[in-house]
Amino acid sequence: MDIIHTPVLLEETLSLLAPRSGGEVMCDATLGEAGHTEAFLERFPDLQVIGIDADMSIQDIAKRRLERFGARARFYHGRSQDFFARHEHAAFGVELFDTVLIDLGVSLFHYERSGRGFSFAKDEPLDMRIDPSEGETAADIIARLPEKELADLLYHNAAERHSRRIAHSIVEERSRSPITTSKRLADIAARSVPARYRYGAIHPATKTFMAIRIAVNGELSGLRPLLESAWKALRSKGRLGVISFHSLESKGVKDYFRELAKSGLGRLATRKAVGPGAEETKVNAPSRSALLRVIEKI
Ligand SMILES: C[S@@+](CC[C@H](N)C(=O)[O-])C[C@H]1O[C@@H](n2cnc3c(N)ncnc32)[C@H](O)[C@@H]1O
Repeated sequence: MDIIHTPVLLEETLSLLAPRSGGEVMCDATLGEAGHTEAFLERFPDLQVIGIDADMSIQDIAKRRLERFGARARFYHGRSQDFFARHEHAAFGVELFDTVLIDLGVSLFHYERSGRGFSFAKDEPLDMRIDPSEGETAADIIARLPEKELADLLYHNAAERHSRRIAHSIVEERSRSPITTSKRLADIAARSVPARYRYGAIHPATKTFMAIRIAVNGELSGLRPLLESAWKALRSKGRLGVISFHSLESKGVKDYFRELAKSGLGRLATRKAVGPGAEETKVNAPSRSALLRVIEKI
């Protein structure tokens, strides 16, 4: 089978979220291509997993990958915060989970294979929704927002230092014709930044794409509801593990876990967030910014 995404911090996750007794049920709230879940099911033969993803096409890949585990792997399509908040696990015969894993963001599949304009290196329709059946596309947002709001979005979501220039060019360009492809957006961003940034180590459109993807999928506004609802779905002594990738997301997780620990509801299993070792970043560059935090319910 054609798997493209390498699970990050895999050994660390397996060890910090290892089941403590037989027959435990884990929720993988961001199943993706099921890299983490496959490893959990292999290592812990008693474990069952319910895997959730808002993206049907990636979930189809996960289903095929996990077929050999039979009823130990079950699936739900939708947003995890909705799954937990509506207590959908009851339909799976699960009152509360022993562990919940959240590996935030998108998968390499989205950049390389989805055809939905996540990558500045491809020429695809500018969509960027992880669930293409719902909500505004990247092209819609770029067409709709006033210049100042676009600039604020680039600055706030991705700390793009040339946010005003890029927003200004987007507005100029869209008045000529709607911006509907990833290539056109990448070219606009590249042309807007000062020449010395144009050929740097990172592509000048990197942060623009990240900021817009975060907005399209409500990744920042959805973080707190996701964490809070996942926490409620955990049993006492259950563990919540979250892998974050960008700084605002990481801060959101850190702040929430601290609040839980301070109010006596949780105990931090990771005093400091766990990052990848040198070996992992060498073989899997996207792991560079990954941070794992684990908290246990009192
Ligand atoms: C980083 S990938 C997970 C990779 C996975 N751990 C693996 O090793 O293959 C995150 C996945 O979660 C999904 N996702 C992101 N936010 C979600 C949410 N709020 N609810 C449900 N799925 C979500 C994305 O579609 C993506 O497939």
